Amino acid sequence: MPAVGGIGPGTGKEYPGNLTLFVTVTCIVAATGGLIFGYDIGISGGVTTMTPFLQKFFRKVWEKKEADKSTNQYCQYDSPTLTMFTSSLYLAALLASLVASTVTRKLGRKLSMLLGGLLFFAGALINGFAKAVWMLIVGRMLLGFGVGFANQSVPLYLSEMAPYRYRGALNIGFQLSITVGILIANVLNYFFAKIKGGWGWRLSLGGAMVPALIITVGSLFLPDTPNSMIERGQTEEAREKLRRIRGIDDVDEEFRDLVAASDASKLVEHPWRNLLQRKYRPHLTMAILIPFFQQLTGINVIMFYAPVLFNTIGFGDDASLMSAVITGVVNVAATLVSIYGVDKWGRRFLFLEGGTQMLICQAVVAACIGAKFGVNGNPGDLPKWYAIVVVLFICIYVSGFAWSWGPLGWLVPSEIFPLEIRSAAQSINVSVNMLFTFAVAQVFLTMLCHLKFGLFLFFAFFVVLMSIFIYFFLPETKGIPIEEMNQVWKSHWYWSRFVEGLDYPNGGVEMGKGGQGSKNV
Ligand code: BGC
Repeated sequence: MPAVGGIGPGTGKEYPGNLTLFVTVTCIVAATGGLIFGYDIGISGGVTTMTPFLQKFFRKVWEKKEADKSTNQYCQYDSPTLTMFTSSLYLAALLASLVASTVTRKLGRKLSMLLGGLLFFAGALINGFAKAVWMLIVGRMLLGFGVGFANQSVPLYLSEMAPYRYRGALNIGFQLSITVGILIANVLNYFFAKIKGGWGWRLSLGGAMVPALIITVGSLFLPDTPNSMIERGQTEEAREKLRRIRGIDDVDEEFRDLVAASDASKLVEHPWRNLLQRKYRPHLTMAILIPFFQQLTGINVIMFYAPVLFNTIGFGDDASLMSAVITGVVNVAATLVSIYGVDKWGRRFLFLEGGTQMLICQAVVAACIGAKFGVNGNPGDLPKWYAIVVVLFICIYVSGFAWSWGPLGWLVPSEIFPLEIRSAAQSINVSVNMLFTFAVAQVFLTMLCHLKFGLFLFFAFFVVLMSIFIYFFLPETKGIPIEEMNQVWKSHWYWSRFVEGLDYPNGGVEMGKGGQGSKNV
């Protein structure tokens, strides 16, 4: 019987090819698409703790916060308008990712990235010069459109470009640039908050123009992926491009499979409706549940609101922004671990290890906050060691996420979809991600106010669920060529019933050959 992790025999295919400088540079440039997403995640939480910003746009929140000083700490930031500022972006991203599916499929991955950069640039410009709340909201919607396009196209681009043996590492370049974006934003907030005259928030918000320019200009120089070129009928150019990318002349086998995948995809007229077919059940399930679970780890409670959270548990304004910088550094460093390990240890190992680590930390943080703040939110004097323990466990939690659900939440969906549904399925992945990013951002401050320390247990519950799900239902995908992925479902204990007997034009069906896959569970 196949192992629970379920890949059993490998596909038997091993395309030749090197990790060329060309593909490395190309992937690094494309991965910078994550910067815009990351910058935004990191910037909004800090900006919403800046007093001049609150006074100008959200006066009521500021007045409440001032008046509330001595009462319940859990509720001091609870304001739907303020959370709307943070979360409106994700609704826009959700819509954009649906449109992006067609652009990415019909016009190529590169054009989607370019559009993403331009829209984001426009949003940053409006936000930097904002004079009224409506300008903030319009700006954030444009930023959201940008994120929707970039997140739809960049992960696909990376997974298609990368030689399959390095696909994990190259794809995680996207997550790395998300984390770098978050960190830069945290550091900038820390310094800009100190600017006399109180206009530092303009620099924080307008600063988003820099990452936007990087991806906009970068995408102009990027080649499109061979998969996408073939899909759009540029077959001969695609073969040349593949030679260049792989650094060898003999790319025939891989090329043939790309063409077969593309032929199969041409038969599909309605990629969206198609997704509902039984044979795509495993793919659809992953496209929905992976991003759902990624957000239900609760990571964005830390990413968006670390300064607010640290403020709530008794840190001063400055210390709160500083702690956000510390978690930002941990986030980047731990992502590097994932880049190193993902193609060695596999996806399942990282998912399960990361899940366990997050669970332990959530329990400890809940206990710490519960012990001091109780249910009435009045901590009394907080000793220094207490703050250190909380920050330490939040850091361990962040690192657990950063080498598991963070990168894998983008990598795994981008590598498991067959070409004919890839673009549509990736849009589902992005929109579910954005929907729950929105939901968490929107309800977190209210939940903190009502659930108090129990909030951390709420997310811990989902971490248990998602780990069980991974253990039983996610097959290992390391070392499997992207257009050969059907094999992992065919030999999975559960999913095989959905795909068995189906003749995928692009699926390797030679069972029993031990490829690299057979070593993983
Ligand atoms: C998630 C974001 C999160 C970030 C943290 C990403 O993979 O999609 O929601 O804020 O990781 O590093």
